[in-house]
Amino acid sequence: MPGDGIGKIVLAEAIRVLQAVRFDAEYVFADIGWRHWCTEGNPLPDRTLKLLRQHKVGLFGAITSKPQAEAAAELAPELQDRGLQYYSPIVGLRREFNLDVCIRPCRTFPGNPLNFVQRGSDEKILEPEIDVVVFRQNTEGLYCGVEWTDPPEQVRRAFSTHPKFKSFEGVPGEELAITCRIFTRAACERILRAAFKYAQKFGYKSVTLCEKPNVMRATGGMFREVAKVVAKDFPGIALWETNIDAQMMWLTKNPAEYGVIVASNMFGDIGSDGFAGLIGGLGFAASANIGQDVAVFEPTHGSAPKYAELDPPIVNPCAMILSAAMMLTHLEEREMAQRIYEAIGGVIKEGRVCTYDMLFLKGGPEVIEQGAATTAEMTSAIIGKLST
Ligand code: IPM
Ligand code: MG
Repeated sequence: MPGDGIGKIVLAEAIRVLQAVRFDAEYVFADIGWRHWCTEGNPLPDRTLKLLRQHKVGLFGAITSKPQAEAAAELAPELQDRGLQYYSPIVGLRREFNLDVCIRPCRTFPGNPLNFVQRGSDEKILEPEIDVVVFRQNTEGLYCGVEWTDPPEQVRRAFSTHPKFKSFEGVPGEELAITCRIFTRAACERILRAAFKYAQKFGYKSVTLCEKPNVMRATGGMFREVAKVVAKDFPGIALWETNIDAQMMWLTKNPAEYGVIVASNMFGDIGSDGFAGLIGGLGFAASANIGQDVAVFEPTHGSAPKYAELDPPIVNPCAMILSAAMMLTHLEEREMAQRIYEAIGGVIKEGRVCTYDMLFLKGGPEVIEQGAATTAEMTSAIIGKLST
């Protein structure tokens, strides 16, 4: 599912790397994204769902999303005024296939110029080595989609049974918006077990539950309760707890201390971008969305439409290639995945081939003269470093 903009570009590069490690697969292309919203009124066509249901493993590039009013305006004339509502197809995929476990590794590649550094007391530059893996609950919480502007009367009545709703009772409907944060015990347990199992399998010493149970007592409190029970099954792994706000502060103070982090949907979204910023940003941020039957692997960057037109392309393909490597790990092709990680690490350590982001340049056609590698050159350098 290449999707929109640079999604098409980076996905093709990832497939080149998969072929170079001789991953034996047939690639079936599926439609997703903005073009299908405009022409069909659905960014996630049923035929794509059918293909995924059949093949079970997906690589996803990126998609363009626009605000509701713009989305409505770009619909084909015959689809206008039908009350169609744009929604994010990746959020749709997560819900459709219950891809409830989202994994986002944030690991330092030594030598990456974009690595987070600190200044030590003696003016020495410290470069903490970060190895964090964020486990984000991917289907519930603030992303559950249960929300209203101008809530219907029966909803208002239901909310009125809560004493804290008193102060909102006089607010006129059109001035009131409600988005619910819904947790289920089963989903809390699944993300927590997935996180602890991963910690055990890959040798992490702690799992940090990053929440806000002091304020959101019902939902955060339930997550915490389940965490304590699940942790008992993993005696060798410590359960730590942080609040999301404090976590965002600590991630620049002591990022090397953390291992696996578990969070609800929105806090996982925030925390994973926070940690990704320390290891090179969106050009290096890979992710897996895993359900019971289907799994989809995607870079966390967007479709960057303004870079999609550049010829040759200059965007960093590493996040997509790392996402493909996560797919290999998921399929228990761990050795192939390892070769890809090592090859990327090798290219970065050597420092000869850098995409524009790694040279702190603003993206544009001139970056190539300024020494930046093209997308294809970066991929080729990685392929050239693959061990045999
Ligand atoms: C992510 C993105 C998505 C999200 C957007 C594109 C809907 O930010 O994958 O982190 O919020 O989950
Ligand atoms: Mg995000």
